[in-house]
Amino acid sequence: MRYIGGKTKLLSEIENMILKKVNNHGNKIFLDLFSGTGVVAYHFKKYFKVITNDSLYFSYILAKGYVTPNNVPKFTGLIKLGIHDPLDYLNNLSGQMGFIESNYASDSNGRMYLTPKNARKIDDIRLTLDLWLNKKHINHEEFEYLLATLIEAVPFVSNITGTYGAYLKHWDKRAFKDLVLKHPILYNNNKINESFNSKAENITHSIRADICYIDPPYNGRQYTSNYHLLETIAKYDNPVIKGVTGIRRFDDNETSDFCKKSKVYNAFKKVLVQVNCKHLFLSYNSDGLLNKEQIQEILLSVGIPETYDFMEIEYRRYKSKIVLKPKVNEYLFYIEKQNHE
Ligand SMILES: C[S@@+](CC[C@H](N)C(=O)[O-])C[C@H]1O[C@@H](n2cnc3c(N)ncnc32)[C@H](O)[C@@H]1O
Repeated sequence: MRYIGGKTKLLSEIENMILKKVNNHGNKIFLDLFSGTGVVAYHFKKYFKVITNDSLYFSYILAKGYVTPNNVPKFTGLIKLGIHDPLDYLNNLSGQMGFIESNYASDSNGRMYLTPKNARKIDDIRLTLDLWLNKKHINHEEFEYLLATLIEAVPFVSNITGTYGAYLKHWDKRAFKDLVLKHPILYNNNKINESFNSKAENITHSIRADICYIDPPYNGRQYTSNYHLLETIAKYDNPVIKGVTGIRRFDDNETSDFCKKSKVYNAFKKVLVQVNCKHLFLSYNSDGLLNKEQIQEILLSVGIPETYDFMEIEYRRYKSKIVLKPKVNEYLFYIEKQNHE
């Protein structure tokens, strides 16, 4: 999935630095504290047990569907009903009216995020998953797996340029494609991987890991606003929505301090002090609310100064129609923490 700050294209640089600093990967635990799409945790599953965390629910669902499982769930309850391939079943649903079509399809109120056909399909899939879960035809693990395939499929038919901050005022041809759920390619690392859905500030003190990878938001663009529709499809909780874009109401405690100029320094400090690991890796970039020196200062205050390392990678900015500066440099910081267990 295209994602603001997504690290798909930086995985080899991140891997080079991590493998240089961490010996004997065998039984180590890798914590991806701001996991987003989950690509980083997925990548490091081949070396470590992985733990993911993100404050957004749809991101947690992606991790539960694509990152932490080692095998496709068994779906024994559905097999008893004669449904042997749940994705095939869901892909062939005819569609029914629900919250998504009522609010985000062109026929209902002019919000052109989705064609009515795809919106109806999303509603039908979502209602079916809730029904299956309520009737215990599927367990939570199976529910999350299927929901993750839906979250992954929606951007491929969304009438947007990359985020849900706005929809296009004309139809992109992508929107007319059929919504298709696909099985993920799972990697079996034979470890019990875990996922959390919490603000990093509230959870770091309770997770112990050997390696912590920190990839927080770097500018004022809240992920809540930019991915509101995926969050609503994941939660399917009939939220209060407002405005031209139909953004769901997010409480103050749901927005990120890492996107607020006045709060970002303290948020960083809190997380970096609390995080309980030996190896601390942190991604940020030259366009961020904090500058390189401020991050370095915080890292040196929580880690062993002689172990500090830093790498700068020239990288193309996440593309949008309005490109202000074509280039932005990615930063990758490392320090060994003091006082880890
Ligand atoms: C730069 S993105 C991570 C991208 C991810 N590494 C990837 O490659 O897909 C930052 C993520 O931090 C999450 N986030 C923002 N504030 C957070 C917080 N306080 N605690 C946990 N996650 C947070 C956002 O929802 C977003 O998914």
